[in-house]
Amino acid sequence: MSVTLGQRDLSMPVLLAPLAGITDLPFRSLVSGFGAGLVVSEMIASQEMVQGKWAVREKAELGIDAANTSVQLAGRDAHWMAEAARMVAGQGAAVIDINMGCPAKKVVGGYSGSALLRDLDHAQRLIEAVAGAVEVPVTLKTRLGWDADCLNAADLARRAEGAGVAMIVIHGRTRCQFYKGAADWDAIRAVTSAVSVPVIANGDIVDAASAREALRLSGAAGVMIGRGAQGRPWQLARIAAALGTGRAPDVPQGSALSDMVSGHYEAMLDFYGMSLGVRVARKHLGWYMDDAGTPAGLRREILTAADPGAVLARLPEAVGAARQVAA
Ligand SMILES: Cc1cc2nc3c(=O)[nH]c(=O)nc-3n(C[C@H](O)[C@H](O)[C@H](O)COP(=O)(O)O)c2cc1C
Repeated sequence: MSVTLGQRDLSMPVLLAPLAGITDLPFRSLVSGFGAGLVVSEMIASQEMVQGKWAVREKAELGIDAANTSVQLAGRDAHWMAEAARMVAGQGAAVIDINMGCPAKKVVGGYSGSALLRDLDHAQRLIEAVAGAVEVPVTLKTRLGWDADCLNAADLARRAEGAGVAMIVIHGRTRCQFYKGAADWDAIRAVTSAVSVPVIANGDIVDAASAREALRLSGAAGVMIGRGAQGRPWQLARIAAALGTGRAPDVPQGSALSDMVSGHYEAMLDFYGMSLGVRVARKHLGWYMDDAGTPAGLRREILTAADPGAVLARLPEAVGAARQVAA
């Protein structure tokens, strides 16, 4: 099982989903270290980036040029999307992904993200502009449709394929579902049947069993994992190994786990700076402690501490002394 993306062979078709506020460079690096076919950056607003309004981090910090990173762009204007694509490709992006799935009102209100599912002609012009602007593979991430009465992902996928898109990721929900209900992997089959480029199934895939079931029902060529990797950066590699396309990772336990979590924490402090880093890191620490079964009092102490030294001192007890990490 493998997915070809332009000249790239994703021998491990298990991809990390873009999660704004979560899949930052420290987390993507951690997941890549265990093994992943591709990791996708947080969504970048195209016009704001090109105009310099978005706080563009230095290229190396954003990790745009990391070999297995896809950079996700969002926007509603073909000109700015194409400019942004040229810019990140010029900085070494290996793959560019177009976001047509984000349901957030702020994004949809601006007619970006999944709002484009309501105007496929416009969506197509955007895709053509991006694909025509760069040499690197361009991919598309979208949902099943706007709502249950407008399941038009297959139509969009056909247009995207015609415009030269190399891979399509489908989150098995509609925009109007947001994150409610269960992802409908079966419904993704309408897209896999409509195009010959690889289609990747996404939504609620958290382990080997759900990955196998999603692949079986959708006929997809691979899977994309988002929330299932929170607190479990090894999970993509684990799923890939179970699917027979990668080496099983050494899942850290005991002191190795607390060393890994401490390393992740320190990388976040470095990346964001101390005061923002302490706050942004809390959600990751919370997920690690969920899995570790950390006692409530200790958990609260760690999640409210303002001093990173105090957090680091308590992590061995909070996660290192944990019960075995669940699969
Ligand atoms: C907190 C959060 C942030 C997200 N940010 C993005 C984003 O920036 N771009 C995008 O295409 N999808 C984004 N998504 C959607 C995910 O990529 C994914 O499609 C969705 O979570 C379903 O997959 P999962 O069940 O494996 O998490 C986000 C989802 C969540 C929960």
